[in-house]
Amino acid sequence: MSLPSVNPTQTSAWKKLEEHYSEIANLSMQEMFANDPVRVEKFNIQWGDFLIDYSKNKINTKTINLLVELAKEVGLEKAIKSYFSGDAINQTENRAVLHTALRAKQSDVFLVDGQNVIPEVFEVKAKIQSFTNEVLSGEKKGYTGKKFTDIVNIGIGGSDLGPAMVVEALQFYKNDLNVHFVSNIDGDHVNEVLKKINPETTLFVVVSKTFTTQETLTNAETIRSWFLKSAKQEDVAKHFVAVSTNIAKVTEFGIDAANVFPMWDWVGGRFSLWSAVGLTISLAIGFENFDKLLSGANKMDLHFKEASFDQNIPVILGLLTIWYNNFFGAESEALIPYSQYLQKFAPYLQQGIMESNGKSVDRNGNLIGYQTGTIIWGEPGTNSQHAFFQLIHQGTKLIPTDFIGFVKPLYGDKDHHDKLMSNFFAQTEALLNGKAKEQVNDEFAKQGIDKEKAAFLLPFKVFSGDKPTNTLLITSLTPETLGSLIALYEHKIFVQGIIWNIFSYDQWGVELGKQLANSILEEINNSLIKEHDSSTSYLLNYYQKNQR
Ligand code: F6P
Repeated sequence: MSLPSVNPTQTSAWKKLEEHYSEIANLSMQEMFANDPVRVEKFNIQWGDFLIDYSKNKINTKTINLLVELAKEVGLEKAIKSYFSGDAINQTENRAVLHTALRAKQSDVFLVDGQNVIPEVFEVKAKIQSFTNEVLSGEKKGYTGKKFTDIVNIGIGGSDLGPAMVVEALQFYKNDLNVHFVSNIDGDHVNEVLKKINPETTLFVVVSKTFTTQETLTNAETIRSWFLKSAKQEDVAKHFVAVSTNIAKVTEFGIDAANVFPMWDWVGGRFSLWSAVGLTISLAIGFENFDKLLSGANKMDLHFKEASFDQNIPVILGLLTIWYNNFFGAESEALIPYSQYLQKFAPYLQQGIMESNGKSVDRNGNLIGYQTGTIIWGEPGTNSQHAFFQLIHQGTKLIPTDFIGFVKPLYGDKDHHDKLMSNFFAQTEALLNGKAKEQVNDEFAKQGIDKEKAAFLLPFKVFSGDKPTNTLLITSLTPETLGSLIALYEHKIFVQGIIWNIFSYDQWGVELGKQLANSILEEINNSLIKEHDSSTSYLLNYYQKNQR
């Protein structure tokens, strides 16, 4: 069954939303709150450890009803069924999209081409578990008989960002293994990591779904040559393992087939941390915690599959993005976690969101005449407050922002946590209410500022407010809640892709640059710069001349 294909702008809900937009655009959220004392009760969802308050948005009940109508008109219900039932919804690559199967229960059935994939998923999980336990217990040793102390994950994109984000986020649950990530083709990256490790006690996890990615293969080769300066060829088997769908290429590289953790083409790179791509996560926090991460994601999958749209967190958050992106003309969204542990969350989701929904051709192959994929950016609070919040508060651009915070800190430091969270609450309040003229003038009077100076300063000190935010308040940062949080955004991506009528699970746009880089490399290697546009030729010649 293929996905429904409906131009969202041709639906009756879209037309109604356009009219509704003109009714609501000039109404301020301050007025909305003043006129409705129970507003927050209407616009929040409580689910397990999550409270999602979306009342600080430029919406009323009619907005939500119309957005839900839009979701229904474009066939979101049917699309969710196709997604979970293993249909080849990644139609341009003729693949199913089943990262949800990786966190399913053993009794579940997920069919790909009529075959239940769950037994295979559990086989690989068992392999991850026993390998993790053998490394952590010291049963598996390096070539001189020493216990492993360091892990190096070699991968890029989805084979790096997910594991790196989760290992950072779950540092509190981490064991004493040192974990490093090498991703960039920039040789300085790998050399900095090599400085910190000892070949006798380091395990290398080469992660590449295709095992053809230039960056990963080059880094793996550099590391293997470095390793062979102290070890012998037969020691490679003890120190190198791989995660890939391409067993032939892995063995060609010299990694023992027994050291390969398989994955499947129905898992997209940016959604793969739940598969053996998460091996480094399992090594860093132990298999039990890795499994809790999976079960948190599974809970969100069930919520997404079963909750009615008006109570469905990924659906509501996805629809709000459509509202701002397509009706208010907002181009970007900020993600601000109030947890230093989540410092890699926005970069991780940049791939998830922008690689998935950065498309301009619809599911019928036609050029799209409306806006799709939003630009995602963000940094943890409170650091970001002292960096770019000025623009969110007083700039000319509308930037809907998700605030993610936790009720309980992990080390129980109440003083720090209350200060952190008071900033968290204060920011969304300030973004909503701003600061009125009268309030600023009162402050001037109290400070004894003279009239002339006050008149000059007034426009700079007034904040219009009326800036939309979602608040995601979660009990505490655990493997399970992190799993649910990541899955929430994965499903939000799906919702948006369905409404925009695009294919979210391919990434043809990154291929052209890769192809050109290969042919330019050949020209550089042969010192023979071929014909390019004048700018590229000029740059290449300058590079060659100045390298000598
Ligand atoms: O850059 C595109 C991409 O294909 C990503 O989608 C993927 O996560 C990354 O490259 C790495 O690919 P691989 O795991 O095959 O090395």
